[in-house]
Amino acid sequence: MSEGILLARVARGTLLPEGERVARLREALPQIDAVLEGETDEVAIQATLACLLWETLTQANWCGFYRRVGYRMLAVGPYQGGMGCLRIPFEKGVCGACARTGLTQRVPDVHAFPGHIACDDATRSELVIPVTARGRLTAVLDLDCPHLDGFSVTEARILEELIGGYFRPGPGL
Ligand code: SME
Repeated sequence: MSEGILLARVARGTLLPEGERVARLREALPQIDAVLEGETDEVAIQATLACLLWETLTQANWCGFYRRVGYRMLAVGPYQGGMGCLRIPFEKGVCGACARTGLTQRVPDVHAFPGHIACDDATRSELVIPVTARGRLTAVLDLDCPHLDGFSVTEARILEELIGGYFRPGPGL
């Protein structure tokens, strides 16, 4: 399958009402599962999720992964959107807070978050979800939005579940 996913076309940057966003995300989930079924390569999964979540989350201006690459250090991974910062220490930004705590960071207003890293001045809200394998943080999924409060609690929970399903080590790994 190479068509991506089938969803109504919505202009990039559009913040749909929350109910429509959740419905769109739920519509995308089985399609994402179908595309990724059986895939175990981490980069292939990250790149495909970045692509398909970008198509699904029309409010995002950045969608992708930062990978743990060293001692308390993240480096950019597969993403969609404008150029992201290359490295983020655990001590910095929303991504760093997620990596440091292992907890999802939902930031409705990035200007109210001390230490937020502005890769894109247009970004107003952000959602960062930890990726773990065998209980160890391996990456974070970073989503940015040019609108205030661009990602709801429900979207965060759905995305946590989605991410949790893909980065568990398979049998024999
Ligand atoms: N805003 C993020 C940095 C990553 S980029 O925006 C792509 C942060 O504060 O962690």
